[in-house]
Amino acid sequence: MGVNSLIFIALTLLLSLTAEASHCSIHGVPLVRNIGELPQDNYGRPGLSHITIAGSVLHGMKEVEVWLQTFAPGARTPIHRHSCEEIFVVLKGSGTLYLASKSHGKYPGEPQEFPIFTNSTFHIPVNDAHQVWNTNQNEDLQVLVVISRPPVKVFIYEDWLMPHVATKLKFPYYWDEQCFQTLPKDEL
Ligand SMILES: *[C@@H]1O[C@H](CO)[C@@H](O)[C@H](O)[C@H]1NC(C)=O
Repeated sequence: MGVNSLIFIALTLLLSLTAEASHCSIHGVPLVRNIGELPQDNYGRPGLSHITIAGSVLHGMKEVEVWLQTFAPGARTPIHRHSCEEIFVVLKGSGTLYLASKSHGKYPGEPQEFPIFTNSTFHIPVNDAHQVWNTNQNEDLQVLVVISRPPVKVFIYEDWLMPHVATKLKFPYYWDEQCFQTLPKDEL
């Protein structure tokens, strides 16, 4: 291996480390960014593409967080709840929102089904168990999501009959994990 290739490898390493750091940087996020160039990942969930457009752990947002999510046909969120406000705007495709109001008691129970479609918007009442599912076999479902009070603390249900108290807290959530570790404790 020549000196040139060694230098090349060293530079590549350095660049990727810098990219990693800036991805988690709460300072120095450019004012205008091309969404097409933001990192996206499925975070282990088949059929999902998640982009944190503006995040608490990733970018230092204090009050709100914005995601762009694309669900392939059949892809869905887990059944879950959180104590923040959450607003969806459906940019493309269609699907189903399953929502159980918390008035049931010990567990969510049979959810109500709401069709969602291009240019529709919906919000999730605080702490209601819900699931968003791309039930359209022919098209991706793309949504813009705004949540309050980030970073999100998600309680996950295995099914609609699981007692609220038996749910597991997933925190930091999947897309916050990597940068959460690099964030100084007193920043939270
Ligand atoms: C969504 O609705 C707005 C308001 O009527 C309209 O301007 C826009 O073109 C619509 N977008 C799509 C994708 O249909």
